Amino acid sequence: MNFKTQETATKLRGGYYTPEEVSQFLAKWILNSNPSSILEPSCGDGAFIRAFQGLNHNAIDFLGIEILDEEAEKADLQLANHNYLNGKVINTDFLEWVVLELERGRTFDAVVGNPPYIRYQYLEKSDQEYSERIFKRFQLPFTKHTNVWVPFVIASVAMLVPGGRLAMVIPSEILHVLHAGSLRKFLLDQCVRILMIDPNELLFAEALQGTVLLMIEKKNTLTQISEGVAILSAPNNSFLNQNPEHFFQTAEYVAGEVLNGKWMKVLLDPQEIEVFERVKTYPGIKKFGEIATVDVGIVTGANKFFLVDKGIVEKYSLQNFSTPMFGRSEHCKGVVYNNNVHQLNEEKGYPTNFINFGKTAFNKLPKSAQKYLRLGEELEYPTRYKCRIRSPWYAVPSVYSTTIGMLKRSHNFPRLIYNELEAYTTDTAYRIRTMEKTLSARKLVYSFVNSLTALTAELEGRHYGGGVLELVPSEIEKLLVPIPKSLKFKIEDLDRLVKASEDVDLLLQNQDKKVLRQAGLSGEEISIIHDAWRRIRIRRQRLVVVVEPEIIND
Ligand SMILES: C[S@@+](CC[C@H](N)C(=O)[O-])C[C@H]1O[C@@H](n2cnc3c(N)ncnc32)[C@H](O)[C@@H]1O
Repeated sequence: MNFKTQETATKLRGGYYTPEEVSQFLAKWILNSNPSSILEPSCGDGAFIRAFQGLNHNAIDFLGIEILDEEAEKADLQLANHNYLNGKVINTDFLEWVVLELERGRTFDAVVGNPPYIRYQYLEKSDQEYSERIFKRFQLPFTKHTNVWVPFVIASVAMLVPGGRLAMVIPSEILHVLHAGSLRKFLLDQCVRILMIDPNELLFAEALQGTVLLMIEKKNTLTQISEGVAILSAPNNSFLNQNPEHFFQTAEYVAGEVLNGKWMKVLLDPQEIEVFERVKTYPGIKKFGEIATVDVGIVTGANKFFLVDKGIVEKYSLQNFSTPMFGRSEHCKGVVYNNNVHQLNEEKGYPTNFINFGKTAFNKLPKSAQKYLRLGEELEYPTRYKCRIRSPWYAVPSVYSTTIGMLKRSHNFPRLIYNELEAYTTDTAYRIRTMEKTLSARKLVYSFVNSLTALTAELEGRHYGGGVLELVPSEIEKLLVPIPKSLKFKIEDLDRLVKASEDVDLLLQNQDKKVLRQAGLSGEEISIIHDAWRRIRIRRQRLVVVVEPEIIND
């Protein structure tokens, strides 16, 4: 959990400015539509105003908005001396301004910019309300998980005249975060073409934010059919020296089913989409939700208190209340959690013992256990939300284990863990059960490691600045898993390979030969799926950057 007080001022106002070559590239494209008026919703110190200065063009009315007075002043000064732009920079809150101007039916021929990226929880109350009003105005489902760039883009698109252009730098998470679902739908309804240039190199390294350049043209009439979405992957930033119009005109736009839900599938090429859609229908390929159930792990409310190392168990004689538990990748590096793994964790001093007093009354507990609980009280654990709302505060609910576990987060590909020890799992992991009598836990764990499942995890999951892939239960249920009728396997072999493997590509290729082949995929289909997975995984992992110092995790 990040607290508002721990964030830097730059981060809280979303103040990362656009590099000159990026603003020039986008400004050039905007000028091709000969706009008479341009809006910039959060112009900072005027990166886009400077970009237009460097390009020869007709006079244009320009309106900039900026919330910080000293930045607005800097931008306004540049506008005052501009060769081509006439207009002003208003020092105000765009969200407040736009709600009123939308009522008045104000429009612009073009919009440029780089909206602030600020989580809803960090916004002023008034901005939270304005954000919600923008969603409501267009009958778009609203969620408090939103980020301010989303209402900025929605309002900006709404302000465009029919046929108008918008060019913005926005977070690449537009492709996959659930909270941007309303925006994705709005863009498809409103725009004839949506192009995203996806640079392989981070444009804003200091913001730890992967960004895409969004270039859209609004429909002339709402009945005009949308050509859909295109994503151009740019291996390096040399595309900034090329003609943006060429990219916009020649990109291959895709429409229809691939755009339902997330837009990650647009990262696949047409042949990859075709193979992906075909193999999905094979009888040996199942949707995870059809063959297994997913439930979150145990929510203790205070992992530091309830999850302890062997030393604490011995010190407070908690042996009778202690059971094995895991929830971190270093607790289980392979695909089997058994007594050997647990013993090794104990030796390493990992906190892999769950202390479960159940609902036993305090005075019925042994003296040593009472002593441990008193320590917890001194450390104020009972005041924590999850502990406070239960009675007694130490009675952890929903304590059960399953023979399959899965960590929420993964680096290279998600894996299931065959929980031979029936250890408990924390809420950083899921509890999984197979629903079919004929499908053993071992077989599901084994079959899960392959390129097709890994690819669907990339397409369905989410990732942020750190590049780690995260899956929530509704996303896991959509994963495609090969379940061949007959399969000869040894889970111990896979466990060894996963633990040892430095070459993840080779590991999955070997698994593919076993499980995907047995599930009916041809060698060519497997190779196409594997290459697609590899490319999308590398794209995600390029976002791995140094640890952010100012954020403290609870
Ligand atoms: C990512 S910076 C981009 C600035 C400029 N557009 C550029 O491309 O360099 C976002 C800017 O939005 C401003 N800002 C944040 N919240 C705002 C709001 N509610 N209304 C207007 N500007 C806002 C910040 O002060 C910051 O200057």
